[in-house]
Amino acid sequence: MQAADGKRYLDFYNNVPCLGHCHPSVVQAVSRQIGTLNVHTRYLVSAVDDYLDSLKATLPESITNIVMTCSGSEANDLAMRLAKQATGGEGFIVTEDAYHGNTSLVTEVSPSIIKQGKLPAHVVAIPPPSSAVYGEDIATGFAAKVTEAIELLWERGFSVAALLVDTIFSSDGIYTEPRGFLKKAVDVVHNAGGVFIADEVQPGFARLGEAFWGFDFHGVTPDIVTMGKPMGNGFPMAAVATRSEYLASFCSDVGYFNTFGGNPVAAAAGQAVLDTIQQENLQTNALVMGHYLKTRLQSIASQSAYVAEVRGQGLFMGIDIGKADNKQIPDPLKTKQVINGLKAAGVLIGAAGRFGATLKLRPLLTLTQSEADFFLDAFVQQV
Ligand SMILES: Cc1ncc(COP(=O)(O)O)c(C=O)c1O
Repeated sequence: MQAADGKRYLDFYNNVPCLGHCHPSVVQAVSRQIGTLNVHTRYLVSAVDDYLDSLKATLPESITNIVMTCSGSEANDLAMRLAKQATGGEGFIVTEDAYHGNTSLVTEVSPSIIKQGKLPAHVVAIPPPSSAVYGEDIATGFAAKVTEAIELLWERGFSVAALLVDTIFSSDGIYTEPRGFLKKAVDVVHNAGGVFIADEVQPGFARLGEAFWGFDFHGVTPDIVTMGKPMGNGFPMAAVATRSEYLASFCSDVGYFNTFGGNPVAAAAGQAVLDTIQQENLQTNALVMGHYLKTRLQSIASQSAYVAEVRGQGLFMGIDIGKADNKQIPDPLKTKQVINGLKAAGVLIGAAGRFGATLKLRPLLTLTQSEADFFLDAFVQQV
């Protein structure tokens, strides 16, 4: 990337243009489609049908229907409405620093952006799946918190509609280990009559290397999947994917129409993203380069006064930055200094987590070893 002053930056901040900024396959697909036909979704267009078939091929067999939207917020809003309809419940369980979007309904389940006041009574937030909270057995501890949340909802007069999590817990600070820890929590919510909504807006589309989706990484099958951000490599598009019976039941009560969701240009962009991930082996690249980055970062952590922990999977990682005299204490100020130092060195990166002291690494899926080394050389100077 090049700024207006000509300075070049390596983008480690951004999982939206997952294939790289202005990737020619997306540019050409979008240009071709907008030069052919672009209409709203009252029309049947084969480009859209073909894209949905390609997208469905990446999803579990039980997830047979897809509704396209324009943003992840719209997708989560519809997912919540589907969950309520499917279960008859009203209660939602999320993590304490979750972000799921900006509609009125979704803001209520996004504790990280609520600045004043409490969550509404039908929403319970539980601590993120970190070893600092749950110790060694994160799966059991996290599932126990889901049980407690269900009981609390009952006390407040609500039955559970859904456990809704970003499957990489990005705004909570990025938690992926131990692989599979989500399963017990999902079982708990199912046994209580709720559904599991996997918010894949952040981890989806091959970024985790080992798996195309975050829920796949954990070996769980969601009832509802939401997706967005990297789906169109920057073209605004998102979707909800779910079981046919949930949509049938929902649509028997209320209609859903989204003028621009699933327009043919979005489908063209989405198809180009799926094709390019496959043709350029980007899931494998995420796995290989993610492993390389993590190994090097762990070695930096072992020698650094500031780097407390490196977490994550594939090309989605979190680095906890702590105080010089005790790196286990989060240091948001130092984190800001590291971000600014990296920017001066030509690397863009952001922060996440409760304290804003976890560097959030989301480089492009095309990351090369020399780009990774450029970042590592710049990073080591800061810590
Ligand atoms: C996990 C997660 N879900 C949903 C959203 C909302 O997506 P959008 O900004 O496209 O509405 C975001 C946005 O950052 C997100 O991080």
